[in-house]
Amino acid sequence: MRILLTGAAGFIAGHVADVARERGHEVVGLDMWLDAAHGPDAPRDPDIIDADLRTATIDPHLEGIDVVCHQAAMVGNGVDAQDLPAYAEHNDAATARLLAAMARAGLDRLVLASSMVVYGDGRYDCPEHGDVPPAVRREDDLAAGRYDPRCPVCGGDITWRLIDESTPFLPRTSYAASKVAQEHFASAWCTLEGARAVALRYHNVYGPGMPADTPYSGVAAIFRSALARGEVPRVFEDGRQVRDFVHVRDIALANVLAIEQVADHPQGLTPYNVASGTPFTIGEMAATLSAAAGAGGPVTTGDYRAFDVRHVVASPQAAADGLGFRAHVPPAEGIAELATAALRTR
Ligand code: UD1
Repeated sequence: MRILLTGAAGFIAGHVADVARERGHEVVGLDMWLDAAHGPDAPRDPDIIDADLRTATIDPHLEGIDVVCHQAAMVGNGVDAQDLPAYAEHNDAATARLLAAMARAGLDRLVLASSMVVYGDGRYDCPEHGDVPPAVRREDDLAAGRYDPRCPVCGGDITWRLIDESTPFLPRTSYAASKVAQEHFASAWCTLEGARAVALRYHNVYGPGMPADTPYSGVAAIFRSALARGEVPRVFEDGRQVRDFVHVRDIALANVLAIEQVADHPQGLTPYNVASGTPFTIGEMAATLSAAAGAGGPVTTGDYRAFDVRHVVASPQAAADGLGFRAHVPPAEGIAELATAALRTR
């Protein structure tokens, strides 16, 4: 298959291109070398089309393409409200333009990079009220070191549960809002065009070539960069917040399976969680990484960020059933390898 791969100069798409080519596909890469991800003077790769989806004429790049794999995005949590327009423009307006161009080209297959952040704080079980969305964490609770969210009805203790793809959207950050909107635009395009899309909701992605620490980096890059500077990871809250760390090669495999099978899906947008299926606490992750780097143990600081979600762990079962995807890299192994893997510096 001939694939247009957006965001091709990025961390995840670079691995998608490798796995796609290994499986015999032809990849046409496109990127705009976003400053926030690559730095202002990043050298261009002549094998990747240099085009900004917000403004470029996309139509010629879609000639002869079978499937679009849309990885280009402004990532991170967002720094402050001044980021809102950039998230909307890069992740939503640019996607809308891409979808309109795909419609003009008669292209009806899309694989979209989405994120578990669409679920926000996920779902919990209250002993009294059953399956509930957690209440937004209160400042006085956080300041007092009570990090777990409360039941939105009774204010009591609740327990996190595995979430599936039918879990309602609850975006908490600029980035999360832009990813929800992106899924909605793709879904509307499917309806208008009778098209098919697969949205892959990535969990916390890590692996070789991930960008070094920037204001938009996730925790794995932040900890790995701290170790590279000779510092130890600084773990927020009490370190018992839970995530699912999924290796970038597994993310790449999920994408290529989706590229190969999107045409077999029902018309419309089908979402899949992409996760390792082995939850880890942030404290465990920091300890594994530090030990593998031969550094001292991490420091648990009790710092917190208002926008952080406490636990987000989703079931990978639908991706196993629908795409035949199962993660191969156990997080304990992959995170230990990350301690010495090269990071991308631009
Ligand atoms: C991350 C990504 C998000 C992506 C999602 C799923 C970022 C900034 N966030 O969300 O874009 O869609 O995974 O792939 O890239 N923490 C520390 N110390 C630090 C920094 C963070 O302990 O120095 C803790 C935070 O309090 C939080 C956890 O690590 O509990 C994860 O934080 P982070 O990686 O920033 O965000 P996610 O919500 O997991």
